[in-house]
Amino acid sequence: MHLGLIMDGNGRWAKKRGLPRAAGHIEGMKACKRVILGARNLCVYFVSFYVFSTENWKRPAQEVSYLMSLLAKKLPGETDWYKENNVRIRVRGNVDGLPEEARNAVKNTVEATSGCNGITAVLCVNYGGQDEISRAVNRFIEKNPGKKITVADIEANLDCPDIPAPDMIARSAGELRLSNFMLWDSAYAELLSIDKLWPDWDQEEVQTCLDALAGRTRKFGGLAQ
Ligand code: FPP
Repeated sequence: MHLGLIMDGNGRWAKKRGLPRAAGHIEGMKACKRVILGARNLCVYFVSFYVFSTENWKRPAQEVSYLMSLLAKKLPGETDWYKENNVRIRVRGNVDGLPEEARNAVKNTVEATSGCNGITAVLCVNYGGQDEISRAVNRFIEKNPGKKITVADIEANLDCPDIPAPDMIARSAGELRLSNFMLWDSAYAELLSIDKLWPDWDQEEVQTCLDALAGRTRKFGGLAQ
């Protein structure tokens, strides 16, 4: 079971409380930890978080730099928590395009938790579905100049080819958009929008996702069994 999560509403959460947007992102980071534990309790094996998109660079420089500093400065301090809770961190996205400190922090966390196997949390950073597909195509072309590319070739060259496609993609704050998230492997994902703002999420919303999924008939283009 793989749950993809589009985290939305950090800014609105902060605004409602008269706090700076940064406070919403900090609470959002805490929500990630609650959701990881909740997902692990409910036997979800993969959970992917849309942390920073290829389009998020358009935000004011101060906010971009704050989000990068969460990766660079906060993530290393959380590594022990991930290890204690047997959480393996993986990364998806154009990591080479991150500022050096953030890039190193992400890479170190991935490395430090590589032996954990309770749940895999995929951080999608500097991630865009279109960018991932174009990078996958370029990886293939480099290895196979002049050859025609197939669906299987693209799949094999995505950032985490060993991780199964998400069964469900859920978005917080009631929005109904994919926003360039997992464009390739969302092909047959079930979609869900939950009104609650991201910083208010915990295990309960993971349960809501699982309940919704249980009520869907998945046919993958075929006929119902
Ligand atoms: C969307 O809310 C949230 C983001 C673009 C950032 C997500 C980042 C985190 C939850 C913190 C970082 C987490 C880790 C694991 C390092 P928004 O700012 O678009 O909210 P709004 O639409 O209400 O303004």
